Amino acid sequence: MSIQIFRIFILVIMRILSTVVIRDVGEHHYDASGRLLDRYDFIIVGAGSAGGVLASRLSEIEGWRVLLLESGGAPPRESNVPALALGLQQGEADWKYFTAPQRYAQMAFPNNVSPYPRGRGVGGSSTLNLMIYVRGNRRDFDHWEALGNPGWSYDTVLKYFKKAEDYRGTRNRATASYHGKGGPLVVDDKRWSAPLLRGFLNAGQELGYNIIDANGPEQIGFSVADMNIIDGIRASSAISYIKPAAGRPNLDVAFNAHVSQIIFNKEKRAIGVQFEQRGKLHTVYVKREVILSAGSVNSPQILMLSGVGPSHHLREHQIPVVVDLPGVGQNFHDHPILFTLSWLTNQRVSTSIPTVMSASAIKEFAHNKQGPLACPFAIEGNAWSLSEEGDPHWPQLQYVFLSSNMAMNYGFVLSDIIGYKPEFFKKYFGSVRARYGFVIAPILTRPKSKGSITLTSRDPKTSPRIDPNYLSHPDDIKTFIRGIRFALKIGNTTALREDFGARFHDKVLPGCEGKLYDSDDYWECYVRHVSSTVYHPAGSCKMAPSSDTMGVVDHKLRVRGTEGLRVVDASIMPLVTSGNTNAPVIMIGERAADIIKNDWGAPTTHL
Ligand SMILES: Cc1cc2nc3c(=O)[nH]c(=O)nc-3n(C[C@H](O)[C@H](O)[C@H](O)COP(=O)(O)OP(=O)(O)OC[C@H]3O[C@@H](n4cnc5c(N)ncnc54)[C@H](O)[C@@H]3O)c2cc1C
Ligand SMILES: *[C@@H]1O[C@H](CO)[C@@H](O)[C@H](O)[C@H]1NC(C)=O
Repeated sequence: MSIQIFRIFILVIMRILSTVVIRDVGEHHYDASGRLLDRYDFIIVGAGSAGGVLASRLSEIEGWRVLLLESGGAPPRESNVPALALGLQQGEADWKYFTAPQRYAQMAFPNNVSPYPRGRGVGGSSTLNLMIYVRGNRRDFDHWEALGNPGWSYDTVLKYFKKAEDYRGTRNRATASYHGKGGPLVVDDKRWSAPLLRGFLNAGQELGYNIIDANGPEQIGFSVADMNIIDGIRASSAISYIKPAAGRPNLDVAFNAHVSQIIFNKEKRAIGVQFEQRGKLHTVYVKREVILSAGSVNSPQILMLSGVGPSHHLREHQIPVVVDLPGVGQNFHDHPILFTLSWLTNQRVSTSIPTVMSASAIKEFAHNKQGPLACPFAIEGNAWSLSEEGDPHWPQLQYVFLSSNMAMNYGFVLSDIIGYKPEFFKKYFGSVRARYGFVIAPILTRPKSKGSITLTSRDPKTSPRIDPNYLSHPDDIKTFIRGIRFALKIGNTTALREDFGARFHDKVLPGCEGKLYDSDDYWECYVRHVSSTVYHPAGSCKMAPSSDTMGVVDHKLRVRGTEGLRVVDASIMPLVTSGNTNAPVIMIGERAADIIKNDWGAPTTHL
């Protein structure tokens, strides 16, 4: 069973839905490729989460001409329907990247290699992602500032989280002052949920945790996931920021424009970019600034292709060095997750493919844009446990609660997307294939393992080498084992064990037969086999003060040693946030827009 078959399903559903529901919302007819100018005030590379925010905010200044260049095309129609999100992976809106073979991890994957989805097209990864809205921990931002990056403390960035937000949820009465109203990005918590969600929240309380607003003052606790969903439709940056601004006469968005390099003059000022479109190379010039928002994989790649990066590495690829910046592509890290800790239930309380594909679900979505199709498949809740090292309120572990498991529906879609070896999947899950259940998936929020993005070729269309170097730091193993033990506790609360008959799928993991079951050794073997990406790469163009030789941008996100060039996306995070990364990237875009406006004498909101 495979993702191809799921795509056919999706096509059928989409035929039905697109005629009634998403005809207008889902259309993006503003490709300005045929009528571009020779020169703009600002050129933004990449129409993803951050690039979309910048395009919208900079084009608020009527006198500025702004160009947004995107390698991919319009978002696929099915991207609008939240439940179909997983089916987008490995499709046209995905770069279809893979990790480098992992030395310390991914042993249950062919060659220790896993798929590494990244959004391609208008909206970038926000068109492909699972829509969970989590800002992160206040200490994440205070830490960025303490590292020598003024202007990034929690108190400062909170203003930008609020500016971006249009909060429409129900659960924040006590934390209202932390939320924004009327911003471009809708955040909501009202949606269909599987009966199991109640079990997860009760389990948290049984363990002494509070049910919290994860985007309020503190983050430790159990929560219903907030989502970027507007009236049942995905609220990507394409829908929230780009489409509403695309009608402005001073903003041009070019689809299918793949940027191959930045052009510098002798003074190392960025004066334009080169891009390829339908087999032809184009050059477009800039008066004020080029802004790279191509994401954690491609922003360092474009810098290196343009001669900005570690000089020895650039020379390996015969690229003339403009600025020797050893940090470009380094400090690359990502949140690893365990998707495999599974429980079986004695009741039909999960989300399954028939739940989403049923005639009643389709009808409910078509008529009211509600029901299971208006939710990301099986994603229900989040929890963060107290940290056992350092500040207890700065969590090292997040837990995603999925009201489905890998084994359900014969591993259809889920197993395919994650990319385990088929024989591994069969051995571990074969005996429980059609059973109802859930997953509690621990995530390392502050991994110590660091990897890199490096060039494999000077051809701009070739994937760079993506090496998250998962679990290379021994502390990450210890933290993961703590996470597994806490997940087992959640699953074994009366709220789940008694009320839903939850039983842990305690089959010995194939490959770990030699270890004593439930020993630390066993769980180390377990995480080295099955942990993989939860899609939050960051850090590869690190923001840092000049005293840090591995810094790439300063606190105003200007690329060191150059003029007129910034990076604004997830790659600038010195350390990834303790949660999902889309909300903080949107915040980075909002804050960067104000910094840029301020630098050029335009009015700002919070500077
Ligand atoms: C499958 C998946 C699920 C996720 N789920 C969640 C979630 O539920 N919640 C959450 O908070 N986060 C989630 N994330 C992460 C989140 O979406 C990202 O952190 C965020 O979108 C990153 O934003 P960005 O601006 O850094 O990069 P992106 O949004 O990836 O934007 C980069 C853009 O640049 C374009 N580009 C790249 N190279 C070039 C080039 N050479 N020329 C022109 N354009 C180029 C790309 O096509 C893309 O549009 C998920 C990500 C994935 C992939
Ligand atoms: C689950 O909890 C019960 C009751 O507290 C306990 O007897 C049992 O050993 C626990 N099971 C596991 C697998 O931890």
